[in-house]
Amino acid sequence: MEQGYLTLNNGVKMPQLGFGTIGQSGDQIVENVAFALNNGYRLIDTANRYGNETEVGEGLKKSGLNREEYFLETKLGPTLYENDQAIDGTLERLKVEYIDLMILHHPVNNYIYAYKMLEKAYRQGKLRAIGLSNFPVEKIQEVLDQCEVVPALMQVECHPYYPAELAKPFCDEKGIALQAWYPLGHGSIDMLKDPVFTALAEKYHKSTAQVILRWHIQMGFAMVPGSRSFGHIKENGEIFDFALTEEEMGKIAQVNRHVPFYQVTPESLQRLATTKCNFE
Ligand SMILES: NC(=O)c1ccc[n+]([C@@H]2O[C@H](COP(=O)([O-])OP(=O)(O)OC[C@H]3O[C@@H](n4cnc5c(N)ncnc54)[C@H](OP(=O)(O)O)[C@@H]3O)[C@@H](O)[C@H]2O)c1
Repeated sequence: MEQGYLTLNNGVKMPQLGFGTIGQSGDQIVENVAFALNNGYRLIDTANRYGNETEVGEGLKKSGLNREEYFLETKLGPTLYENDQAIDGTLERLKVEYIDLMILHHPVNNYIYAYKMLEKAYRQGKLRAIGLSNFPVEKIQEVLDQCEVVPALMQVECHPYYPAELAKPFCDEKGIALQAWYPLGHGSIDMLKDPVFTALAEKYHKSTAQVILRWHIQMGFAMVPGSRSFGHIKENGEIFDFALTEEEMGKIAQVNRHVPFYQVTPESLQRLATTKCNFE
């Protein structure tokens, strides 16, 4: 089955489907990363804050794939935004020579200094692309105004119930690709059992999760669904052998609830700004 790819604004080719690794550690994540890469995935998403980069690196090795065969992305943790060793430390934990995409995880602390660190590592060839996550548009604009390299990608909460409608027009205009976190609504039963998706799942002999992931592909989003189960990991990769019609995409547009599952609050931002990574 042919994967979908996006071309980032610097010409780097990125798979649309990736495997998300939040909340998984130890042998489980070693096995799941290797399994995903051996079952059609070509992108792995992790973060300093997930505390699993060492095991993700082991999973990459275990997959048997050559380095250039997979796209590796990770996120700089906010408590490391002024740590000039943080990017080299990330390369060491992952045991790779370069990272395909490094993202600033949250718009807290000194993110301009952090973005300039990413720019430096990008110019040195340690990072093939750099991006942002969870930045409201006015803070993306601040990065555009104060830094030189236009972010290649924004990672945001995005799914049919909350389809990144604030970020999308801005990012489209600036040439910044969008990548969905919570692409399955964090496993929301409400969304996975929504009658719009159950009807389409029946029509295409697919699961509702596959229909939702197919919607992401056709919206032009990249996405990083997570799962602890080999069955779901495999299933989520089998989305390139069917296509939703324009009318069906229109029906899905109507389930939009305009409200994210994850609520950003001053307290949540404060927590993200101060909670250290497990290796600090
Ligand atoms: N940048 C950020 O701030 C940020 C924030 C959150 C997440 N992320 C990234 O986004 C990734 C995805 O987030 P997420 O894992 O929380 O949410 P998600 O991918 O939307 O949903 C994962 C949930 O859906 C279930 N699931 C997966 N495939 C399924 C299927 N085929 N059928 C039924 N249920 C299925 C999983 O359960 P099972 O384990 O049972 O399959 C799990 O409970 C993370 O791993 C991380 O890489 C980034």
